[in-house]
Amino acid sequence: MPTELRQWGEAILDFVVRYHEGIRDRRLAPDTTSGEIRAVFDRTLPEEGVGFAATLEDFEERLLPFARHNGHPRMFGYVQSPGVAIGSLADLLASTLNANITAWRSAPGPVEIERIAVEWIRDMIGADPSSDGLFVSGGSMANFSALAAARRMKAPIDLAREGAHALPRAMRLYVSPETHHSVAKAATMLGLGSDHVREVPVDGALRMRVDALEAMIEEDRRAGHQPFCVAGTAGTVGTGAIDPLDALADVAERHELWFHIDASYGGFAALAPAMRPKLAAFSRADSIALDPHKWLYLPLDCGCVLYRDPAMARAAFAHDAEYTRVMDSAPAESFVFWEYGPELSRRFRALKVWMFLRAVGLEPIRAAVEKDLACAAALAEKVDASDDFERLGACGVVDRLLPPRPGAGA
Ligand SMILES: Cc1ncc(COP(=O)(O)O)c(C=O)c1O
Repeated sequence: MPTELRQWGEAILDFVVRYHEGIRDRRLAPDTTSGEIRAVFDRTLPEEGVGFAATLEDFEERLLPFARHNGHPRMFGYVQSPGVAIGSLADLLASTLNANITAWRSAPGPVEIERIAVEWIRDMIGADPSSDGLFVSGGSMANFSALAAARRMKAPIDLAREGAHALPRAMRLYVSPETHHSVAKAATMLGLGSDHVREVPVDGALRMRVDALEAMIEEDRRAGHQPFCVAGTAGTVGTGAIDPLDALADVAERHELWFHIDASYGGFAALAPAMRPKLAAFSRADSIALDPHKWLYLPLDCGCVLYRDPAMARAAFAHDAEYTRVMDSAPAESFVFWEYGPELSRRFRALKVWMFLRAVGLEPIRAAVEKDLACAAALAEKVDASDDFERLGACGVVDRLLPPRPGAGA
């Protein structure tokens, strides 16, 4: 006689399998209204539950018809991962284990798995071998964490103790108009002030102009500000443009600025050998934001931030409190994730990364990335050949694979 839990579990698993197998037969997105959706749900706060079977029925009969199916083969909107099936199963395991990935002592095995998965990601994209980091909710949080570390390291004062008002000069960050808004949002949340987020103009291919960046840094220095960070993008949200990362790294080095790369969208393109040269500067970045829940095909949520020198992240995030003090003195066993990012309690996001990579290996993932690139290149060729459409921005990801277009630059 199966227990209730087994019945529920089997029902859930049955749904998961049916969903993944039959997703292409679903309507991609509902045509509905908020009122229509609310009308199908009983909205009284339940004093007595209706039971699991009825709740699962609600999910399938009432909720599902109003969902958008991001894994649908015809889903072309936004920078959206399909969410591979292994990922949904791994998430179920992660919630079952309910590990809290704060520190080694809280979850020894899961912490090691996260550290291994971060190392794998570092090596997959060709980041500096000394880099370390952690999984966060997404690219926005990865950008935020990286900028927090950047500001802390480049501030001429002890920012953690004295606070931003004690800064002798405004610290300035350089982005482009194509940079994802989460970078500017992070800057405002960190108290930098949106006036000090400088938008460097882009070239015809929508990439940050290196000459303009250099001129703005010099102009800001003359005006008494402190340039502190350049945020380049590997795959802009609008067109997939890749900033001239190597040249930006040179500028950052010359002016002693922190060099951040937002690779949330395009980072995993580095798996394709043809893309590698454009992304070689990953090895030179002080920090990199990535989103396995985009081009690593994993379900939400899963972002990742890498710091070239993890000690710099610790300077920004380490805080001492009685209840977080680690007693163990062996370095590996005293490892704590809360010194690398803003969160304390964290779910076991790494499990789906590790399970997916371990189960399928890099080869099919690399092939999938190359197929995506080929699809984008084929679409670009069709648009270029069409009289009805015009490709407005050259696209870093695609143009690598296409013959050069006049005016698109190098
Ligand atoms: C380039 C880039 N950076 C950052 C983000 C933000 O990522 P998330 O939505 O995971 O916070 C996105 C999202 O599309 C993006 O394309």
